[in-house]
Amino acid sequence: MSEKPVVVLTRRWPEAIEAKMAELFDLRINASDQPMSREQLAQALLDGDVVCPTVTDNIDAQLLSAPNVRTRLLANFGVGFNHIDVSAAKTQGMVVTNTPGVLTDATAEIAMTLLLTSARRTGEGERLVRAGGWDGWRPTHMLSTQVTGKTLGVIGMGRIGTALARQAHHGFGMSILYTARNPRPQSEEIELGAVRCEIDELLQRADFVSINCPATPETQNLINLAKLKRMQPHAHLINTARGDIVNEADLVTALSTGIIAGAGLDVFVDEPNVSQALMDLQQVVLLPHMGSGTRETREAMGNCALANIQAFFSHQSLPNRV
Ligand code: 8YV
Repeated sequence: MSEKPVVVLTRRWPEAIEAKMAELFDLRINASDQPMSREQLAQALLDGDVVCPTVTDNIDAQLLSAPNVRTRLLANFGVGFNHIDVSAAKTQGMVVTNTPGVLTDATAEIAMTLLLTSARRTGEGERLVRAGGWDGWRPTHMLSTQVTGKTLGVIGMGRIGTALARQAHHGFGMSILYTARNPRPQSEEIELGAVRCEIDELLQRADFVSINCPATPETQNLINLAKLKRMQPHAHLINTARGDIVNEADLVTALSTGIIAGAGLDVFVDEPNVSQALMDLQQVVLLPHMGSGTRETREAMGNCALANIQAFFSHQSLPNRV
């Protein structure tokens, strides 16, 4: 029997991280790189001292409370952990860690990409050229919305929201409104030209609204038709957080009836399935949950998860305990 702790990766990780982990642990990798079935996840919890899940693994109370579960640490690959029933894990005596900090800039970049793409209709423009439908320049062709100098509303001014506000303010001279449980330090508000307000005021005043809060029972369906109706008809909604914070059917209604002008989405309620109603709308930018998907960041996420695992086995305080 192996002396080394058994660590299960539910998906393939960057090669360099897998190699490091294979030296340290009895590493079991889901070589198929397909989302694990419920049965496979149950088996992973029986086999692994550590299981390293991702957003594609739904680790619920029933799985966690099965008899003979061996896992003591769930070292999540990602900052969001709404796919793990953390309180059930804790009840079973398990520790849960995540990977905050290292994916902040990459995710903010994708939020800004979506904002620019939605405002400037660059997705539509690219599709037009590729389809051979471009019939030449004219003064009124494909007019879009300027970003520079506009107002960005950030719902959830944590690490990623703040990084986006920084890019928007310093890069595009945008004014920032934000919601957060606690105000940001005054020096940061001044640096970012940021003003904290209630969500309804933010929705009413912002030209662009970006969702950057975690998915919790309180934020589920936070952006529904009533909230969308508070937005301005020229406004755009950006979501790089989690799909179920937005009611997708209500978003389709808002977009198709002109309640808002556009949306940029990196996350969806039922990933990887995207509703046909969203697909049919030209004024929506659709990305495949790629916020943290740079080589640098995915490697940093792997290193961060590894640091949590090493701290766990050396009985040190865990860098990112949830
Ligand atoms: C990850 C994310 O790619 O970290 C998160 O919460 O949404 C993404 O950046 C994914 O969650 C990995 O599990």
